[in-house]
Amino acid sequence: DRMMYGRHLGCYQDEKRLRILSSFYGNYINSNSPYSCLDICIQAGFPYAGVQYASECFCGENPPPPSASIADDLCDMKCPGDNSKVCGGYFTMNVYETGLAKFEPRTPQISENKNNSVRIVYLLTLNGRALRQVHRLINALYRSNHYFYIHVDSRQDYLHRKLMSLEKQLPNVKLAATRYSTIWGGASLLKMLLAAMKDLFRLEWQWDFVINLSESDFPIKSIESLEAFLSMNKGFNFVKSHGREVQRFIKKQGLDKTFIECETRMWRVGERKLPRGIVVDGGSDWIALSPDFVSYVTGDRDELLAGLDIVFQHTLLPAESFFHTVLRNSRFCNTYVDNNLHVTNWKRKLGCKCQYKHVVDWCGCSPNDFKTEDWPRIQNTRDRQSFFARKFEPVINQQIITRVEEYIGFTDHHLLSNLEAYWQSIYHIDDLTSSSDDMILTHAGSITRENSKILLKEGCSLVPYEIIEITSYNYADVYKGNLILHKAVLNKEFEVLIETWYKPKKHLELNFENHYVDNVKIFKVSSDYDQKEMTFRNLANILGPLSEPILLYQFAPIVEKKTENFTILWLDPTGIIADVNSIYLDENNLTNFIKPNLKAPLLPGVWKVGLFEQLNLIALTKFLITPLESFSGKELTHQEANIIHSGSQNAYKNFSYVKPLNFLPDEEESLLLQKISHSNIKRVNQDLKNWIDSLNSDFYSVLGSCVSTTSQNSKEKLGCGKHIFEYCTQTEWSSLSPDPKGTIGNLNSKSGRL
Ligand code: UDX
Repeated sequence: DRMMYGRHLGCYQDEKRLRILSSFYGNYINSNSPYSCLDICIQAGFPYAGVQYASECFCGENPPPPSASIADDLCDMKCPGDNSKVCGGYFTMNVYETGLAKFEPRTPQISENKNNSVRIVYLLTLNGRALRQVHRLINALYRSNHYFYIHVDSRQDYLHRKLMSLEKQLPNVKLAATRYSTIWGGASLLKMLLAAMKDLFRLEWQWDFVINLSESDFPIKSIESLEAFLSMNKGFNFVKSHGREVQRFIKKQGLDKTFIECETRMWRVGERKLPRGIVVDGGSDWIALSPDFVSYVTGDRDELLAGLDIVFQHTLLPAESFFHTVLRNSRFCNTYVDNNLHVTNWKRKLGCKCQYKHVVDWCGCSPNDFKTEDWPRIQNTRDRQSFFARKFEPVINQQIITRVEEYIGFTDHHLLSNLEAYWQSIYHIDDLTSSSDDMILTHAGSITRENSKILLKEGCSLVPYEIIEITSYNYADVYKGNLILHKAVLNKEFEVLIETWYKPKKHLELNFENHYVDNVKIFKVSSDYDQKEMTFRNLANILGPLSEPILLYQFAPIVEKKTENFTILWLDPTGIIADVNSIYLDENNLTNFIKPNLKAPLLPGVWKVGLFEQLNLIALTKFLITPLESFSGKELTHQEANIIHSGSQNAYKNFSYVKPLNFLPDEEESLLLQKISHSNIKRVNQDLKNWIDSLNSDFYSVLGSCVSTTSQNSKEKLGCGKHIFEYCTQTEWSSLSPDPKGTIGNLNSKSGRL
């Protein structure tokens, strides 16, 4: 009455490295066994390690859809004593060198003893500036019996600075003292992971699993269910395998190529042969490892580790293969569980655009951010042993994060102020590069002056002088503008901290006489276009002479025609055509971007981009290349202005043969524009500021400002001329207003939660 349907786990079989020659797990049915089908199903639904398909531990009339890998076997099984019902459970079978097969049902380690708890180290590997999302992640994960070890990319001083206070605030949080420039896919990622894991032993924390997570991961099940699952699976190591033919994986992954990480890039230098006698395995680099295994991989180098160290120092995306390969080839072989506890939002068509070419000599893929419409993907993991999902980015979509929190048991959302708001820092005065951020400081300085002009109309004198922070502000997943926190002198009397809210103006003109005009959905220029998320990361369109503008277009399908050709003309501030591009529009190309062939420095001023059908204008957009007020943090000199503000007109191709209708300036106008542009180059100091301000006021609208001052602690509103300032802490849009979800909460000593 014992049936076995096995799936090869792939423990290494060669050279007698292992005692266990092969290992199976599969479905188990035995009516007389203590682990009867029913028991198995009742016991929390996942009695055995290695069972990533919790939904397939069933006993009932409606088994869930079988997984691809063990589907057929499961479908055939019947519940003992009841042929109408189907049953499934799991077992492990190890084949030993003697050739004897030995059944070893993994005993469910469910214990009544409450002390049999599990302690987790969350190894957070962080990058970027999404501080409030990192806080939100920590708030969601935090329990006082777990630990947080945080590594921040050494180039991300903002995030590191802001997180440092956590070490003092919470006893179970440590930041990595040794930090690496962990480039995407780089060998340094593995180096960092191994160094961080080694450090865990120095800290003498008592832990059962280390789980690595990034700023874009989030739990999708309650921490209690993760704890319950892991407490039954102590000693196992969770990694996800590629699930395809090994040779194909090796090729796709570039494992047969030697890479060298140098100056924060992975350079491909040649072909290589992988060592013989080693089973190569890999897949995801999101893992949950046991202390025994971590102690082994970070400890003394035996022959296997010493060899793999050399291989993996020169391997692209090393963390996606290293742990898998060590597991397969070491005595830890049968602790391998093919499950990374994650669901990943892969949309390969969007995520595999070779977007990391500047960082790695390879075409790498990235998962997409979850959006509200991806909710079913998360919900479908309800019965699976997936405890985390990636990727989440509140600048792209925050609603889904809120929904996930509700799904995993958060009940206090209705009590939280600013739940739908999201703030993310763009610039901070303490950033290591802050003083030389000439473009952003020029831009922000000009906006604060614009605000002063507006206030002056109300008889309020506000002289801005130091930019502290610039923050981008979203509400209900819509970009609402930027906020500039700056110092100023109010009424020539006292210093205040002001936050100014502003937004870019829209610059799309449509020619309603053209029949294609209704097809134009987006026609816009900015920079830092993210192909994967199909959005500009430079939301405020802040562009300077050294920027690389990109045009994004989106068309509605053209009903009467399958394909159409359009022309794009780029007109510089003097009215000269700087570049011409063609769009070949078909159903696969309705949304796309164009990077014009323009040489830096770009001529400052207002640029125009026209969309044409033959010679007829359909749509026109404008963008601003802001002149720079400073160079490397110092006021621009005449000599520098001459270089930076004179453009690169002599690098343009000759487009005089292109004669679009109603687009180019006439000869007289053209001469005038040239003359103005020429004289603009000579502008420095106040004259330069005036020019910058006149340009900026056409491209940005100031929406309001609030005050935050320590010298006036009154709750009263602050008057200045006829203007009454709100306090920022009470101003909904202000980055200084309360944001409980994005701030580390207070520790509740009773529950151990934040
Ligand atoms: C993920 C996997 O990590 C990668 O191995 C796989 O090939 C694709 O899916 P992706 O989501 O693109 O990659 O990477 P991301 O989460 O942005 O970065 C991975 C880790 O590296 C994160 O912990 C991130 O914080 C860190 N990182 C990334 C840095 O520290 N610095 C960087 O410049 C980029």
